[in-house]
Amino acid sequence: MVRWTFRDVDEADSTQAVAREMAVRGAPEGTTVVARSQSSGTGRLGRRWVSPIGGLYMSFILRPGGIARPELFTLVTAVAVVEGVHEVTGLAPSIRWPNDVLVGGRKLGGVIAEAQAYRQEISQVIVGVGVNCNTSESEMQALRGEATSIGMELGRRIEISRVRLAILDSFSALYDRWKSGRDLGQTWRQKVATLGSDVSIKLKSEEGAFSGTARGIDDDGNLIVSRGKGTMTISAGDLEWLRERHHPIRQSTTNPSEPDRKSPPF
Ligand code: BTN
Repeated sequence: MVRWTFRDVDEADSTQAVAREMAVRGAPEGTTVVARSQSSGTGRLGRRWVSPIGGLYMSFILRPGGIARPELFTLVTAVAVVEGVHEVTGLAPSIRWPNDVLVGGRKLGGVIAEAQAYRQEISQVIVGVGVNCNTSESEMQALRGEATSIGMELGRRIEISRVRLAILDSFSALYDRWKSGRDLGQTWRQKVATLGSDVSIKLKSEEGAFSGTARGIDDDGNLIVSRGKGTMTISAGDLEWLRERHHPIRQSTTNPSEPDRKSPPF
């Protein structure tokens, strides 16, 4: 199990930046920076992560060495968020590949993972997790109906530290299984709502969007999309946005609106 140690701060510019600095100075695996709010929270692809008091904002350091498929950190952590939130709240979130955690089609949280390698080995990974816990409805409205919080879903406040611990416990168990070579594919495939959906995707490398049906996730964590008679393999870094149009497996996870690319990450 990971031995978690905490650095709690009132406000950080970004817990990700603080943890990165600590990692460079040699902080051990399990070091976790937690902030009550962030002034410059960042999401994937450089987007802003709105971080008022009431959310969970944490970044933890891992030193996984020669772990297989390090590109799966985002997905594995998203699974831990789904499990941890479920354990504390009874809600049943799902994952919009590769890193969004949704409830009822709205974004409840997100995950970012930044790895640094040295001579073929991953020397450190900084994993960042943001979850809207007690964030108010008015703060969510500023994100134009695309976000939700645990408080909004349950109609009551929850203890943020319980969500934090449940996510870290779940992550620790998954990480142990992963390091011992067990296949986690089944675990995360079950939680990815995107599979089976018609999706509209824009790749950074191409003009215009294309549509297809999300068919699966390969062993390296890439999304497989079928399009006509062909299939395309998409890695998380290539994706600029994604819209689910219809979800035949779990209707509640359909995303009703197309994200505005200029808006905050919700
Ligand atoms: C995303 O969905 O784009 C990922 C969002 C990750 C946000 C978290 S909040 C804690 C940590 N610090 C940051 O600045 N970002 C991550």
